[in-house]
Amino acid sequence: MEFRCLTASLADPGALLEVWEGDTLAVGLFSDPDHPARTQVESLVGAGLSELLERRRFKGKPGESVSLQRLEARPGTVILVGLGEPAGFDGNALRTATASIARAAAAAGSRSLALALPVEGLEPGTATAAMAEAVRLSLYADHRFRSEPDPQSVPELVTLLGLPEGSEAALRSIDGLCAGVELARQLVAAPPNVATPAALADAAASIAADYGLELKVLERSDCEALGMGAYLAVAQGSDLPPKFIHLTYRPAAETRRRVALVGKGLTFDSGGYNLKVAGSQIEMMKYDMGGSAAVLGAMRAIAQIRPEGVEVHAIVASCENMISGGAMHPGAILTASNGKTIEINNTDAEGRLTLADALVYASKLEPDAIVDLATLTGACVIALGEEIAGLWSCSDGLAEALLAAGRAGGESYWRMPLRSSYKEGLKSAFADLKNTGPRPGGSITAALFLQDFVPKDLPWAHLDIAGTVWSDKGRGLDPAGATGFGVRTLVNWIRAGSAA
Ligand code: BES
Ligand code: MN
Ligand code: ZN
Repeated sequence: MEFRCLTASLADPGALLEVWEGDTLAVGLFSDPDHPARTQVESLVGAGLSELLERRRFKGKPGESVSLQRLEARPGTVILVGLGEPAGFDGNALRTATASIARAAAAAGSRSLALALPVEGLEPGTATAAMAEAVRLSLYADHRFRSEPDPQSVPELVTLLGLPEGSEAALRSIDGLCAGVELARQLVAAPPNVATPAALADAAASIAADYGLELKVLERSDCEALGMGAYLAVAQGSDLPPKFIHLTYRPAAETRRRVALVGKGLTFDSGGYNLKVAGSQIEMMKYDMGGSAAVLGAMRAIAQIRPEGVEVHAIVASCENMISGGAMHPGAILTASNGKTIEINNTDAEGRLTLADALVYASKLEPDAIVDLATLTGACVIALGEEIAGLWSCSDGLAEALLAAGRAGGESYWRMPLRSSYKEGLKSAFADLKNTGPRPGGSITAALFLQDFVPKDLPWAHLDIAGTVWSDKGRGLDPAGATGFGVRTLVNWIRAGSAA
């Protein structure tokens, strides 16, 4: 899929058809029937458009779309999508409208698509990138696990209309960014018998080999030597060996800033002996490596985009949480690699155990900031639902920077409190702390648990993406299934360069 920008716009349809020869033109229409875009489309497709839109009950609301097929005319397909009120039309609305255009164009078998959407209120580069991302990511399809893939056609050439000269620069990083999101989606969607800890290590090895990154994979014995008792206790019930992945991107010239990305990489979470019961979505727990997928996807993007001045470390303590004679006991007391002891009162709170040792390892690299991403708690899904991820941070600067990076990429976060009094809930009678607190505020005590494994003065943020990694029905520019959530936030944050 190729993208380009043109300054030509629908304001002069004659001139537009001289420079653009594609088969499908898509136009966004606000709900106001007197808005100039309606007259402009009418002059292109002929009088009678308003009656036709009325018959099709098109009011210009978000989510509405009408496709016109014109056998003898050029362009042969005209797609009209509703944009709602101009006041509510922001970057996210632009993404959603673009995604519905892309789907309609694919359904119409379009080969060359042009989009005429209002971008006046937005910075041209931001608007250009948002539209290109939305077309590519909404048309992503994954047929790896079917014996006969559904044939699907996507446009070869996508032209963005009415953009100022120079907007094309914003297209340069689209391929890298989208490939990163797609990798994350593929890793999350792959079933647990395919996306094993070894497969995650292989994915990291491919990125390293393709883009010249540095990769270290620590085996069980290496992790034992480092004293990673929390991580290894989770891994010990599985027949699959754990893989501790450390992938590094170094900039070509000097390093001004070093960041560490830590991802939860449970390729399957059965719950262990405090087993997940029916209704707890045990069959979906292949997506419990969503944090690691976001981190590897971001590395894939960063490796291609090659930002200057920043060194990026991706760290994933990958394993499965399973049941066997060797599995961790409820009641066990473990020692993490920073020497802290942990009483296991629930083996299903395993993610934080793997992250504890991963965070200790990341801290030793002395980064300017650490961001971890994890499908950590069902409680976060209850609190924020499936469209918003939780964000916890001890640093206001880092929290603001991540919120802004998320907004720029169309990913939503809500900052949650690291209320220290709730640490009471993690007090253990036998060890330094327990791995779970009471049910109320469960996503907060989980974040407080992690905080114990990061030095106080190191800017750190924890993103709980349990609700956002997967979408059963699809939403916005995410097709049904794995969303690749987190990649765009991480890449935008790293590129924006605000470490603290
Ligand atoms: N992977 C789960 C969290 C999860 C639940 C993600 C549902 C996505 C959807 C995590 O390992 C877990 O089991 N957490 C427990 C913690 C509890 C035992 C304190 C939970 O949320 O129930
Ligand atoms: Mn669990
Ligand atoms: Zn889990």
